[in-house]
Amino acid sequence: MSSLTGTPAWRDAAGHHEATAGITLEELFAADPERAARFTRSAAGITIDQSKTHLTPAAMASMFDLAHQEDVLGWRDRMLAGERINSTEDRPALHMALRTPEAGRLKISGERVDAAVDAARARMRELVDTVRLGRPWGAYGGVITDVLHIGIGGSDLGPRLACEALTAPADDGPRVHFIANIDPAERDAVFARLDPAHTLVIVASKTFSTLETLANARAARDLLASALGETAAGERCIAITGRADRARAWGVADERILPLWDWVGGRYSLWSPIGLPVAMAVGMDRFEALCAGAAAMDRHFRDAPAEDNLPLRLALVDIWYTNFKAAGCRVVVPYAHRLRSLPHYLQQLEMESNGKSVDRYGHPLDYATAPAIWGQEGTNGQHAFFQWLHQGSWCAPCDIIAVREPGGDRDALAANAFGQAAALLGGRDQETLRRAGVPESLRPHRTMQGDRPTTTLLLEGLTPETLGSLLALHEHRVFCQAMIWRINPFDQWGVELGKERADALVPVLRGEGDAAGWDASTRGLVARWRGGEFL
Ligand code: F6P
Repeated sequence: MSSLTGTPAWRDAAGHHEATAGITLEELFAADPERAARFTRSAAGITIDQSKTHLTPAAMASMFDLAHQEDVLGWRDRMLAGERINSTEDRPALHMALRTPEAGRLKISGERVDAAVDAARARMRELVDTVRLGRPWGAYGGVITDVLHIGIGGSDLGPRLACEALTAPADDGPRVHFIANIDPAERDAVFARLDPAHTLVIVASKTFSTLETLANARAARDLLASALGETAAGERCIAITGRADRARAWGVADERILPLWDWVGGRYSLWSPIGLPVAMAVGMDRFEALCAGAAAMDRHFRDAPAEDNLPLRLALVDIWYTNFKAAGCRVVVPYAHRLRSLPHYLQQLEMESNGKSVDRYGHPLDYATAPAIWGQEGTNGQHAFFQWLHQGSWCAPCDIIAVREPGGDRDALAANAFGQAAALLGGRDQETLRRAGVPESLRPHRTMQGDRPTTTLLLEGLTPETLGSLLALHEHRVFCQAMIWRINPFDQWGVELGKERADALVPVLRGEGDAAGWDASTRGLVARWRGGEFL
């Protein structure tokens, strides 16, 4: 198969980029009074405005041709049909089946997917009701006032984000806490706020072998045991895992083990029992509303024609900036404190899915794939890196995510979101500065080039439904990118080596092993760590 960059559709799109590279955003708007409407679409509670990006209608059309050439929507249908498109792990990718019933009618290993999901959901509801209705927990008794969720990566980021986004101060559920890092500082800070007699521990790990999670789980269980004794401590632990055998060996009784399936990737697992802390925090009905919001976006992704398909549209513009504009990063600025963890969530979703260098057949790629994703909530980011956005030497596309909740200071919040995007579009030239009386010597320093691209995503409020829709939108955005890049977004072999090196280095740092086989820098750091001279 020829490289993607040699295909007709790629070369045609590249030709459009070359032909329009010098056209500014303001010129694009001047040439097309309908541009804003032409580049704006809405679905499932979300409006995306891509008019402030450097694509002419013809360039956008060439990107749809590229999507057609790469059969992106055909791959979508194969994913939905349960094909093993996660080819290197020989697995289907059926996270949609966790929330969209019609996607769950498939059978995996003879078991209906939706039946397994429904059973797990029913078990989740039982556990949630026990806690939220204040029923005594287990033989030891005592009501649960605090839920401690232990996990990392996909076993942490989604639940953490959803709890931050959906939990209101007035909520009457338990307090939900998260620890992920193996740094004891994180768990010590949380433990200090817990009463072991009223604490429930959730150990979330698909493999039940992640070093950080097991270390934190051991410490949490010891905390409970110190107050309640070993038996009661064990009763207060729930495991969410694909390895029930390991959870059982660790001491979790079967009735407190919730399943994870190998057809759900960790970073796609919020909709699975991994979402238990969300249900604990806001109630099972709102967790199911979160899933329903994602299902609404699933149906849009499944049914909408390419030109109106939000995930596909976002992915095509991403490809334009990554591969034709050579932008090495994309900035994500959610103008909502409750979405402050969204950049972190998207880092894993996008960079662990598409940070690849070989195609699905193992051929090395001669084109770029996932850019670096970073960002911070607005308006805070304006006081951190917007200088770079406005006057830096790099031009990075920026996603401005706003929540339509008119009134009070949220009008000002939205004004910042929209105003910053307008400023990045138009900039401010030296003539304007001259007319404003700015001294000539200062004008170069105060000039803003503008012509900096942004995409605005506007949510109809921040509800379980719109959050679900937003996260599903990004799952499908990542999928569409991957299908054009011809890569597998569902494996993550790249995380293995670092983990192996870390596991091997622990005994060496403790003086239980020899650093001789390590590189000189690591040997020096080990020596210094153990109190000796660097080398
Ligand atoms: O980062 C590597 C990774 O395997 C992620 O894909 C996963 O979400 C995370 O570690 C945690 O893995 P587990 O849920 O198995 O503990």
